[in-house]
This record gives sequence, C-alpha cells and structure tokens, in this order.
Amino acid sequence: MDKFVANLMSRMTLEEKIGQLNLPVMGEITTGEAQNSDVANKIRNGQVGGLFNLRGPEKVKEMQQIAVEESRMKIPLLFGLDVIHGYETVFPIPLALSCTWNMQAVERSAQIAAKEASADGICWAFSPMVDIARDPRWGRIAEGAGEDPYLGGQIAKAMVQGYQGVGDSAFTSNAQIMACVKHYALYGAAEAGRDYNTVDMSRIRMYNEYLYPYHAAVEAGVGSVMSSFNEIDGVPATANHWLMTDVLRDQWGFKGFVVTDYTAINEMVAHGIGDLQTVSARALKAGIDMDMVGEGFLTTLKKSLDEGKVTKADIDQACRLILEAKYKLGLFDNPYKFCDSERPKKDIYTPENRAVARKIASESFVLLKNDNNLLPLSKKGTIAVIGPLADARSNMVGTWSVASRPDVKSLVEGLKETAGDQVKINYAKGSNLTTDPVLEEHGAFGRLIGRDKRTEEELRNEALRVASQSDVVVAALGESAEFTGESSSRSDISIPDVQQRLLKELLKTGKPVVLVLFTGRPLTLTWENESVPAILNVWFGGSEAGLAIGDVLFGDVNPSGKLTTSFPRNVGQIPIYYNHKNTGRPLEKGQWFQKFRSNYLDVVNEPLYPFGYGLSYTSFTYSDIRLSVSDLTEKGELTAEVTVTNTGKRDGAEVVQLYIRDMVGSVTRPVKELKGFEKIFLKAGESKTVQFKITPEMLKFYNYDLQYVNEPGDFQVMIGGDSEQVKSATFALK
Ligand code: NOJ
Repeated sequence: MDKFVANLMSRMTLEEKIGQLNLPVMGEITTGEAQNSDVANKIRNGQVGGLFNLRGPEKVKEMQQIAVEESRMKIPLLFGLDVIHGYETVFPIPLALSCTWNMQAVERSAQIAAKEASADGICWAFSPMVDIARDPRWGRIAEGAGEDPYLGGQIAKAMVQGYQGVGDSAFTSNAQIMACVKHYALYGAAEAGRDYNTVDMSRIRMYNEYLYPYHAAVEAGVGSVMSSFNEIDGVPATANHWLMTDVLRDQWGFKGFVVTDYTAINEMVAHGIGDLQTVSARALKAGIDMDMVGEGFLTTLKKSLDEGKVTKADIDQACRLILEAKYKLGLFDNPYKFCDSERPKKDIYTPENRAVARKIASESFVLLKNDNNLLPLSKKGTIAVIGPLADARSNMVGTWSVASRPDVKSLVEGLKETAGDQVKINYAKGSNLTTDPVLEEHGAFGRLIGRDKRTEEELRNEALRVASQSDVVVAALGESAEFTGESSSRSDISIPDVQQRLLKELLKTGKPVVLVLFTGRPLTLTWENESVPAILNVWFGGSEAGLAIGDVLFGDVNPSGKLTTSFPRNVGQIPIYYNHKNTGRPLEKGQWFQKFRSNYLDVVNEPLYPFGYGLSYTSFTYSDIRLSVSDLTEKGELTAEVTVTNTGKRDGAEVVQLYIRDMVGSVTRPVKELKGFEKIFLKAGESKTVQFKITPEMLKFYNYDLQYVNEPGDFQVMIGGDSEQVKSATFALK
C-alpha cells in the first residue's frame, strides 16, 4: 500500500491532492442526470475525494465512472451514507439496540447493514455514534449507547467489527464497508442538552468517562473518525490539535483518516475563531483530512500554502490517508466493487435479514412495569389499540433511517399478524401527537404523522367507545420518531400533554391498560409509573418493530432489555447517571431529604428507573457473591461468581451485571462502574453460575496526572440485575 500510494502521489498535482480532501453531498438523482451536475464537473477536474448520500449501484457506478475514466488521475471515489441502524432492513435505534446488551446481536446488525448498504453502492458508513450522553433532553441520545463508557466501548467494537469485518478478514469481501466512529469528541455533553451547544469538561473526566468508546473503536480498527461540532477546551473539535493529533494519533495510534462533520469547518467562523481560510488551515493543521460539504479545504488551502499557513507535508499527509482508505477498501483493484446491480434484490430487505431484525427488536424492548403480570396478553378476546402512534407506519423505524421503506408494519398491523385468530383488534387514534401543531411540525422532519382534523374530544370519545368494548387497552403513546435525533432537543421530556390526558381517560374506564411507549430518549414517567399497571418501552424498533412488539406483548418472546440510560423523575434531576461521585456530603441510603446533604428539597436523588433496569415475565434471584480470593495481587486474578436462578414459570434471559467501586483513590472515584456483563438464558427453574474474572488491569483509571494506573487498596464488587439491586463483596488489591 505504501508504495502504491507514494507512487500515485508522486504523479498528483497540488490541486489534485487537495481535491481528495473534498467530500461533497449528492442527493437523489435520476440516472444520467448526474453527468452534467456541478459535482460531476468537479470529479472530472480531480476536485472530489468522495460523495455522500448517493444510493443505488447504477447511480454510484455512473459517478465512479466519471472519476476513473474522465479524471486525469483516475482515482476512485468513496461513497458514504448515514447507515446508522440498518439499511432497508432497519434495526432498533442505537439506544434501543444497546439495551439488548447482546454484543453478537449488535455486531450482526452492523453486518447486515453493511451487506445491504454495500449492495446499494455504499462503501462507507457514518457509524457507530458512540457519544456518551447523560442528558435526555439532547435528542441525539437516541443515536448512541447511553451513559456508560464500558458498555459503549463494547458496542463500539462490535459495530466496527460488524461493518468492516475482523482483523485480516476486514474489507476482504464486497459486503464489508468502512466504519466511521463519531462524533469525536464529547458531543453528548452539550450544555443543557441543547444540540450543537458548548461543551466544557475537565481532562480527567474526559479520560475516565467520555473518551473510552472512541478509543475502543480505534482499537477495533475503525477506518475513519468524524470530528464533532462542539468545542473542547475553547477550541472546536475540528480545529483541536490536542484532540485530533495528540490523543487520536499519538496516544491511541489511529492510522485511518478523519472527516469533519457536515460543514464543521465553515461553522468555526460562527464559533468565532477566524474566517474560512483561517479555520480551514487550522483544521488541516489539527489533523483533519477530509472536509464534509463546506469546501473550505478546496477553496482556501492553496492560498494558505502560498502564505505559509500550512505546509505541503500537511496536505500530503491528509491526501495519503484518504488514498490509503480507498486502497484498504479495494477500490483501486476494482472501483466498481460495490456496483453490482444484481445484488440489491439478492441482499437487501431479505426475509433472513428481516427475521434477524425482528428478533433483535424484541430483545431491545424494556419492560418498565408489569403489575400483577398484566403482560403477557392472552391470545383471545378483544384488544383496543389506541393512540396516535398505534397506526403510524413511518414512525416505527425511528430517526436516521435514510433507506427505510414506506411499507413497514404499524403496531396495529403487527399485532393483527401476531395475535392469531382468537383475538379481535380494534383501533382508534385517540388523539393527535401534541396539542400544538407547531411543536408537532418541529419534531416531524418530513415525517409528519398526519394531524386529525377532529377535536380532542371527538377523538377521545371514539377511543373511549373502542376501549369500552375491549378486554384490555394497549395505549401506543410517546414521542414521534423525529422528536429525537439531530436537532431535536426538548426542554420538557414528558409524554405530550394531549396524550397524557387521553391516557388518564383510558385509565378511568377501569379496563386494564398497557402503555406501549415509543421514545428515543428517557422520558419523565413519574405519573405514568404510579398510575399505569404495565409499561413496555419499545423505543423505535425498526422495520420489524410491529411484529416484534406483538411477539413480546403476547409472550412469544420474554422481554430481556435493560436500560442503558437512567430515566429521571423530572427534568430537574438532569444530568443523572449511575456512575456518579459520592461527594463529601452524600445522602444516607434510602433517605430523601436531609439538611446539608447533597440532595433536593422536592425530589429524591434516585432516578425513576436506574441504569441496567428492566423486568422480565419471569423472575431471577441472585446468590451471594463468592470470591476466589480476597486479595488480588498485581499479577494475579480473582474470580467473582454468583448463581442466578430463574424462579418464575417462564424461560427467560437475564443480563448479569458486574460493578466495581474503588473505595479509596488518589482522586475521587465513582460510586460504582460497570466492568463486565453477561447475558444468560435460563429455563424456568434453572440455575446458572456466572463467573467474572477481575484483573488488576480492570481496576485502572486515569489519575490526576492522566496516567492510567491502579492503586492498591479496598474495592467493592457488586453483581446484580441492575445498577441498584446488587449483591456485594469486598476485596483488596495488594
Ligand atoms: C451531521 C451529523 O451530525 C452526522 O452524524 C452525520 O453523519 C452527518 N450530518 C452526515 O449526514
């Protein structure tokens, strides 16, 4: 590769090198049309390194042909897309996917996404998004794996392996594509949960709590990294040399290329650090290689070179890394590797892929409440399915589903198919999504559910009539798909008012009510938790969600999802996360308010539903923890084991979670940190012993001087089914 790329570069002009750093966007086109576009001319002139948003092997081929036949250097293009949680076969939104705690499933979903996307001409996915988020007001919490760095790192690795392949087998077939870990870095820590907002964080927090998932993706061999929009230490990530070079390349050894987020270079003008030429030069100097959409590189780098603001070596370095990515993908061998027009019908939206998506979706749902075993529902009688999200096909797939099909099944359709012929299903819309059409439109992003012209009362009366004729009510409520995702922050994260009023009326009928909750973020559900007997959080489960929800509601699948993000009781508790510090004035366990303690006058400290939480149709008990030794030495190993028993009447899966607390450190340490987990399957009555190895390596953290060390002393080990219900034991590191 080195020789090939060096040889190629020795024949390139400066302009052609700068051209490789340019990534324009190219949306939907009709075949033939692209030839005459502005982008096509740029490709001919050697001013384009890659394109994104173009789909379909013919269209991709047409553009690729211009590059390899009509440009002087004949260098193939990269074709990127936001392949985020599947392609036409859509998997649950990433936050939901993380709630499976099933790394094989996560990897498999990325593998299928890669297969489908590559069949449609794509060789580069802008995924995984691994931003740690502790603020559910931020709409993009939906796109990541929640609040925990360790789990986030495991998922990052699984996703990268799924897209690219593992080790030497990466990029060996045309079903593997390049991943792009994003948004580097700390994008999830935007102040007040407002998208694109300022981030300010200590280095020690970055290293211990936020950077790990990006690092894990790099260790898994991710081919590219996307810079984030936010600033870090007062310098936007896209111009931050410390971040892009010192950490990413020098400390972590990243060998791939860095692309900016959409117009992130240009946005640094608004950030207030200079004009386009200045910020473009700063970005290149910081270690950015490719400029998404803004063309700051294309239009200013030559001038900056002439003025001595960047060097030829800076430009060469970026160009080299992009050519290397093309080489690794095999595009120099075959620029049309991903342009096989026979593939779409063979590889996309196949029954096999959809069956996997259905299974994974059913694993991602989290049962939040289930009084008196109201769920599962029996497959007979009459079910009223009520709510603005009950029959909303376009809503099922969730945010960032750019390739999803219009014909996915709604919940009502899915329930009709899974219920069998002994069940009668009656539907009523019940209400609009929100009272305020303006809010609804803000949160629609081209996917308006469709407002019903009837009054609130008319809709409700119809729903109450349908409810009165049923044995049980399934209320399909919550947020629409685009209430989360990019630029979808909310300051009030409750179920929209009009839906709450509907729910209250449904409860008054005295019929048992199951809340099937659609959401892309934790919502404040304090009232719902007190009032509704059963709540199944289904997030946005993807193209097969309708069927998968039926599978779980009717008990064909026992729910096993566990939350990867804390659900606050109210917005005032935000940011809320399980791995917080103790403070000097912790509240005594089980207390609410104590004067001069760290707490609130008006709400307890604990979340409504903690990290790791999720119920099952069966129940599990945990034995006490057995430790193999009580002292761990620097070269030694300790095993912590528990026996988990399925004490209920149904088979089921349980996510056994390992947490550790470092009792005394040279710096303060969290009250607990996830260090391992295992998802096990237990038949009714069955017991299994789960063992976790604890090594000194696992006890390391970044100290005040940002050295990665462990410190001898006492540790608490906790194992349980969520972050609060745990058994505990202690050991010492000698
Ligand atoms: C902006 C988003 O922040 C990023 O996640 C996405 O990949 C790009 N746009 C490209 O669509």
